[in-house]
Amino acid sequence: MKILVTGGTNGMGKGVAKVLASLDNQEHEVIILCRSHELGEATIREFEADTKNMKTSFLICDLTKFRDVKKVITEIQSKHHYLDGIFINAGIGYAAKRIETEDGMDAHFQVNYLSQFMLTLNLLNLLEKSEMGGRIVFNVTERGEIFWDDMQMKNKWGFEDGIHQAMVAKRMFLQKLHRLYQNNHKVKVSFVGFQIHEVVWTNQINLVPKYMKIMATLMKFLGKFITTEKCGEIMAPLFCENQEKSMERSGKFISWRKNSFITLKEDEKVVDRELQDRLWDMSLELCGDHKTSQIAQSLSA
Ligand SMILES: NC(=O)c1ccc[n+]([C@@H]2O[C@H](COP(=O)([O-])OP(=O)(O)OC[C@H]3O[C@@H](n4cnc5c(N)ncnc54)[C@H](OP(=O)(O)O)[C@@H]3O)[C@@H](O)[C@H]2O)c1
Repeated sequence: MKILVTGGTNGMGKGVAKVLASLDNQEHEVIILCRSHELGEATIREFEADTKNMKTSFLICDLTKFRDVKKVITEIQSKHHYLDGIFINAGIGYAAKRIETEDGMDAHFQVNYLSQFMLTLNLLNLLEKSEMGGRIVFNVTERGEIFWDDMQMKNKWGFEDGIHQAMVAKRMFLQKLHRLYQNNHKVKVSFVGFQIHEVVWTNQINLVPKYMKIMATLMKFLGKFITTEKCGEIMAPLFCENQEKSMERSGKFISWRKNSFITLKEDEKVVDRELQDRLWDMSLELCGDHKTSQIAQSLSA
């Protein structure tokens, strides 16, 4: 399998990428998307040393910038003729204040959702060419609401609201993609939302204020966290399983309990088709990219 992981230099993305690189006699090719050249290089060296898989690589893309997203799309399209899987994972967690990107977006909204919306639509053609059955796994959690009148959170901002708005947007996006592929498309691609069942001990711990770090450390001793490697072990099968199994999960919101995947009940607002369409249209408008809009139009035709 050839799998692209966004945010593969730390946390859940790194855990999944590393486990994938180690599986099945190191046969999987893993490409990580990251914003730092040094960190990208160090991560690949670590993967090579620890897994002996020499088919891992990195691509640079700062998701706060649409120009970077467009550049990396061109790079991926020129280097790769197909992809079997994508893990839509990269995300900002804690932030002390609202950050506005050069594209005029709230950083949580753009990094965690909108840039990856653009990336996803522009890579669907590569997933359609997968002989193993293309699939996208979205890293999501169950809470969240869309602030329809203040999506960029200029009037009222909070980092948790920002995280959760992006989560619910990703869940609506995957539902819409599932619907489009199920109804109109001859080629099968699956779209799965996965929520990790426990909190993962990630790089976030190094970024949060001291009091939160102390609380997290206490919780760690109480066994409230799992490692990124454990998270990778749980999630990796979603990228390697056969197409039939992956298609059965398409459009579902799943998690992990008692050593198996379970389906969670999706929120009424997330499955509301009118709201999904509204978000889709607004997202395309915010991307302001002719090619992305053309792809969206051809999917809906
Ligand atoms: N930790 C949990 O328990 C948990 C549970 C459920 C869901 N999540 C979600 O999982 C996702 C990953 O979080 P995590 O906990 O694994 O955090 P993390 O350790 O901080 O990893 C986040 C990853 O996203 C990348 N990233 C951040 N901003 C970026 C940007 N502008 N451009 C490109 N890449 C960027 C980071 O790159 P750098 O390495 O350069 O920082 C890193 O690789 C988030 O959406 C989070 O909300 C986390």
